[in-house]
Amino acid sequence: MPRISDEVIKEVLQKTDIVDIISEKVSLSKKGKSYFGLCPFHNEKTPSFSVEPERKIYTCFSCGEKGNAITFKQKTENITFVEAVEDLALKANINLDFSSYKKENPNKKYYEINKDAENFYKLFLTSTKQGTVAKKYLYNRGITDQIINDFNIGLSPNDYDVLYKTLSNKGILVSDLHDLGLVKQSKTQSFYDLFRERIIFPIIDERGNTVGFSGRSYLETDKESPKYINSPQTIIFTKSKVLYNLNNAINEIKKNNRVVLFEGYLDVIAAYRANIKESVASMGTSLTLEQVKIIKKYTNNVTICYDGDPAGIEATTRAIKLFENERIQVKIVLLPDNLDPDDYLTKYSAAKLNTFINEKWIDKIEFSYLKNNMDIDFSKMLDIEHFKKIIFDLIKNTSNTIIESYIKRLATDINVSEVSVRQDFYQYTKKNIQNIGERYKRIVPIDSKYLFAERRLLSYFLSDVKYILKYNAEFGEIFYIDSMTRDIKHIIEDRHYKNLENNIDSEISEDEFVKILNPDQLRFYNSKVKNKMIDLLDKEYDDLISAIQEYINSHLQLEIEEKIKTAPTIIEKIKLAKYRDINFKEAKHGKG
Ligand code: CTP
Ligand code: MN
Repeated sequence: MPRISDEVIKEVLQKTDIVDIISEKVSLSKKGKSYFGLCPFHNEKTPSFSVEPERKIYTCFSCGEKGNAITFKQKTENITFVEAVEDLALKANINLDFSSYKKENPNKKYYEINKDAENFYKLFLTSTKQGTVAKKYLYNRGITDQIINDFNIGLSPNDYDVLYKTLSNKGILVSDLHDLGLVKQSKTQSFYDLFRERIIFPIIDERGNTVGFSGRSYLETDKESPKYINSPQTIIFTKSKVLYNLNNAINEIKKNNRVVLFEGYLDVIAAYRANIKESVASMGTSLTLEQVKIIKKYTNNVTICYDGDPAGIEATTRAIKLFENERIQVKIVLLPDNLDPDDYLTKYSAAKLNTFINEKWIDKIEFSYLKNNMDIDFSKMLDIEHFKKIIFDLIKNTSNTIIESYIKRLATDINVSEVSVRQDFYQYTKKNIQNIGERYKRIVPIDSKYLFAERRLLSYFLSDVKYILKYNAEFGEIFYIDSMTRDIKHIIEDRHYKNLENNIDSEISEDEFVKILNPDQLRFYNSKVKNKMIDLLDKEYDDLISAIQEYINSHLQLEIEEKIKTAPTIIEKIKLAKYRDINFKEAKHGKG
């Protein structure tokens, strides 16, 4: 297959206004020669996504995504390179035929066969006697003709091989049907259908291809066989890499910037009835990293709404961890009385389910509190101590408001005075800080070049927003040696962002800036920052960044040393020591 020539690509990029293309999806405002906006590739509240029309590129200083108009289109629309070039060419009035560059999808024939099967099942549900019985079951569960149509629900016949015969008669090879798991071969060599007398839910991938099926038994008489039978793993279907209903939900997910995650097909359908259409299901099995990565392409906000039974709560705990590792924000909906979303809708109403999901969600601290609270035996002192520490760890890096409110609840729940819980909390967190602090002093002298670097950086931050953006991209918001520096940096940052938002192309004025500082900050600023805003060079900035990096590495090492010391098992100690040796070789040699 021929490739699009470099000249054509060049011409397309040349004639494309990248600001125009990106503006279709991101609202941009001009600052100097560049444009800024909220990055579409990660979740953020302040803009760090820049577009440079002259160089025809975009860069996110925060998540690192960068590219040109072609990559932007590819990534935001989930299309191929050729399709992106073709779209841009069309827009730029370049008349070229791109069909010869498009590779035929090698799995196309399988998708087509599955589509045939899907249509067969659909027709069977809507136009047969058996279908009438199955539809009655569906109607009873609140599933209307409209929903049947929207989700392409079908029915497999109560026969041995109707699908096999129908599709073979159309000229489809039995080997292909077999590859797709639609037919199986018996010991006597004859072929028979996998799905018999089941309500069929087609499973469709993000691009709209039907990749597999799931069949639910529905007859009172059929209590023996499993509730669901699924397509086996095939060339085009791996259950753990697909999310049910994603294809239908994509636009809603983007529009609402969130996805609601369920366990099952009927739950997604219940949500749909409750007018929550950005819904997908992980299909019973525990959520996988692949599924999380798929979600991340479209949004960084997930509401987990698994079944309200113990298994659902365990699955939620695992899902939270996976999302957390991928820095996806989670909300959790805990349905009452072991209900799943579909049961909840049936018991109450669609409107109530909508309210529950949209308004009664809890955050992960609250979820963890409730879960651990459920698990403990309040008659055992050790259990209570354990519970307390879990909660302390959970809240220690949050705001005072959150800390105070959990201390109150904890006191009530474990039936001791608030004062003593508060004392325990501050002792517990102080001890942790001291532990690290003491060891820290031995290796890294305080008030060293690191502290200097952190302070010196303030001058850079004041001089240009780009330095703050780069710093945040490198280190995030988490690490500071000195809280005064941190607070001043935040103030600088706010000023810059306000300027960006208001489209003011000016530096921060010192007169204005010092007015915002409180007396302590002002004193600090006057002695450590003011008058030092000279000779700002990118080279020095890079050195300062390296110094901070060095500090963080040594600090991390200390945390690991601490963990090794307190690890409960030898195996754990060895594991951690190995990790330390791999990551912090130099420091280890230094200690000798
Ligand atoms: N599942 C499966 N195979 C099974 C059981 C369950 O693949 N033998 C998957 C299905 O995707 C199902 C999901 O796990 O939708 C959740 O299972 P469950 O809660 O048992 O089913 P529901 O979706 O609630 O279906 P129903 O309301 O009809 O019982
Ligand atoms: Mn159910």
